[in-house]
Amino acid sequence: MPSLSDRLPTFPWDRLEPCKATAAAHPDGIVDLSVGTPVDPVPELIRRALTDAADTPGYPTVWGTQALRDALTGWCERRLGARGITDRNVLPVVGSKELVAWLPTQLGLGPGDRVAFPRLAYPTYEVGARLAGAEYVAYDDPTELDPDGLSLLWLNSPSNPTGQVLPREKLREVVAWARAHGVLVLSDECYLELGWDADPVSVLDQDVCGGSFEGVVAVHSLSKRSNLAGYRAAFVAGDAAVLGDLLQIRKHGGMMTPAPVQAATVAALGDDTHVAEQRERYRARRTALRGALEAAGFRIDHSEASLYLWATRDEPCWDTVAALAERGILVAPGDFYGPAGARHVRVALTATDERVTAAVRRLKD
Ligand SMILES: Cc1ncc(COP(=O)(O)O)c(C=O)c1O
Repeated sequence: MPSLSDRLPTFPWDRLEPCKATAAAHPDGIVDLSVGTPVDPVPELIRRALTDAADTPGYPTVWGTQALRDALTGWCERRLGARGITDRNVLPVVGSKELVAWLPTQLGLGPGDRVAFPRLAYPTYEVGARLAGAEYVAYDDPTELDPDGLSLLWLNSPSNPTGQVLPREKLREVVAWARAHGVLVLSDECYLELGWDADPVSVLDQDVCGGSFEGVVAVHSLSKRSNLAGYRAAFVAGDAAVLGDLLQIRKHGGMMTPAPVQAATVAALGDDTHVAEQRERYRARRTALRGALEAAGFRIDHSEASLYLWATRDEPCWDTVAALAERGILVAPGDFYGPAGARHVRVALTATDERVTAAVRRLKD
């Protein structure tokens, strides 16, 4: 019997293991700028909320507590400019990766449906289509796609891996195009709080969606903004009909956010101070790494937002990865994100200040 996993490509990070071993052999240790996993502490007020909610013997609900739904709608209204949002427009998920990977399946997509995502993209959009047995297509401009049979359109601004931000007018145009053709827009906005040279905008912004959430759903994660990748805290917000269907499926499937994580999410979304502090840490690391890479002969493309620098020396990405690994620095090859990335590497800002300083020193040698 064919296995479901046969539909999937090789897990990309497994291919990086030999370079990781090279970098780890550096006498002063590896500087790992590959995966982009947060390394700074979980803010104290979030930890406190988690432990205060530790005594929760009962099952949590998939839709979340009323306090959580209020926190989600309040944040969407305040931070995203989503006017008129109610708790029928929000749904917690167990980290956004599971949602991205299983959404096409949970929406009932399959053979005959098409899922579209950016030419350079987080690989899980394709994984989700493959798991559902749906077709998929990569785009440069979504409004140039053939809408026939197109069921789901992924946007990702700020982008992983390029850091590119879609301007408000472009988002508005894409949403109008998708609505005209009955295509559901899923906008992965997990780096929205990390704009440097641009101010990222949500599809739920009243100016973009026109005050109606019909046909649009935004995906948000606390992993990066609040250093909560280990908690698995994320949510979707938007079209009530789509979220209502998802809620039913996810109730049957038992996809519940643990109760202490729900409480931690409420605390995290109610506080902007820790987000501003974390941003400043990343801003300093970004400035240091960007300067060192440019001085070492790299060109940085896009990268106006997100946790990454999209860097190139105009050579095959695996040559760059190997050369940096020799200096004890591990980065991600651009082709992990699609063949169009074959001459770039993605450099994550997620290392401690001490490790970033080490990388800067090594790039000078
Ligand atoms: C574009 C994008 N979407 C979703 C995720 C998943 O994040 P999480 O599962 O931690 O919410 C990531 C993680 O790096 C990402 O880069």
